[in-house]
Amino acid sequence: NGVFTYDPGFMATASCESKITYIDGGQGILLHRGYPIDQLAENADYIELCFLLLNGELPTPAQRDKFENTIRRHTMVHEQLTQFFKGFRRDAHPMAVMCGVVGALSAFYHEAMDISDAYHREVSAHRLIAKMPTIAAMCYKYSIGQPFVYPRNDLSYSENFLHMMFATPCEEYKVNPIFAKAMDRIFMLHADHEQNASTSTVRLAGSTGANPFACIAAGIAALWGPAHGGANEAVLNMLDEIGDDSEENIQRFVDKAKDKKDPFKLMGFGHRVYRNFDPRAKVMKKTCDEVLQELGMADDPQLKIAKRLEEIALEDDYFKERKLYPNVDFYSGIILKAIGIPTNMFTAIFALSRTIGWISHWNEMISNDYKIGRPRQLYTGAPQRDYPAK
Ligand code: CMC
Repeated sequence: NGVFTYDPGFMATASCESKITYIDGGQGILLHRGYPIDQLAENADYIELCFLLLNGELPTPAQRDKFENTIRRHTMVHEQLTQFFKGFRRDAHPMAVMCGVVGALSAFYHEAMDISDAYHREVSAHRLIAKMPTIAAMCYKYSIGQPFVYPRNDLSYSENFLHMMFATPCEEYKVNPIFAKAMDRIFMLHADHEQNASTSTVRLAGSTGANPFACIAAGIAALWGPAHGGANEAVLNMLDEIGDDSEENIQRFVDKAKDKKDPFKLMGFGHRVYRNFDPRAKVMKKTCDEVLQELGMADDPQLKIAKRLEEIALEDDYFKERKLYPNVDFYSGIILKAIGIPTNMFTAIFALSRTIGWISHWNEMISNDYKIGRPRQLYTGAPQRDYPAK
């Protein structure tokens, strides 16, 4: 009937129904299929969470084994895909390479185009979960000029990722179990977050009937921005810039973030939905403390800066009034750095973790009735006018 509401930034518009993830931003609650994120982080692992998000229930031991074996069977990428990397500059950002290479998967799995077939949708989901760590690690290896390392299917999901990142043909790489556990936790804490910008992008692309690989490539592109997945990289750059944990130094950055004439924001702070605390940040901070403690790095200078920055900001009226708290990305970068992951790979790791969320939402949408996503607009341009006579 031509009546519609104007809602820039979708502050008050629900775009879909979903049974996957529940968030109560006021209470700081995040549930995946009903299970609280802190309980999942404590008791489950990423593979189990992938099964849960995709299928709706926790797996039985037999289902878990089958699922894990299926994922293992799909970890290699088509050998032809390795050629794609050569088309990129070595100094390209890994996210730039990842967008292109994941989109290119569409060219390899023709049956995935048949999105009406539930079996084909499931196989595409398995392929994506399995191949994202391989592709992410290949992006890294390409950037440093080392040969690609093939997946090892005797390793767990997170061990295998670290192996592909850090092993070389000339040296055995022994995965540190502390690193593998921390990596798995980071994957879990980024796995899904309902209708965030990248997931909404995947749904919007998917609503046209586009194939799953193309949709996930669209999600990767949306995730890259510093207001979204790019924040973890931006946090570390900010901590680097702050330099030391002296009171005046940190206060200077806090004041800069409060200055409305300055575009600078405290990276890793604030969230569209959480107005109390980000439950993922709580688990992340605890994991960060544990990892650095176990590595004998409890005095890490960046951790000190982060902690003091958090304290100062949380006492500040500007942050209190606007209910701005550390989000999931505030501490994840410090853990990744301790593991030895270079800063420019942080967002690529977010993308690999979020792939399960994206594909679960895509699958949920395609399995149910859906309409093509087509927002309206408020036109503010020139009124109708005649083309000048020649
Ligand atoms: N530093 C300083 N001021 C801030 C910040 C910040 N990090 N975040 C929000 N504000 C201010 C903002 O300027 C506004 O002030 P005012 O009311 O005076 O105009 C007020 O707080 C409300 O913020 P908003 O920008 O309207 O909130 P939003 O929901 O549109 O944006 C956000 C949410 C996450 C994009 C934003 O908080 C931000 O840019 N944070 C820094 C980037 C970041 O850490 N992103 C990661 C998000 S979590 C991971 C993910 O899911 O991607």
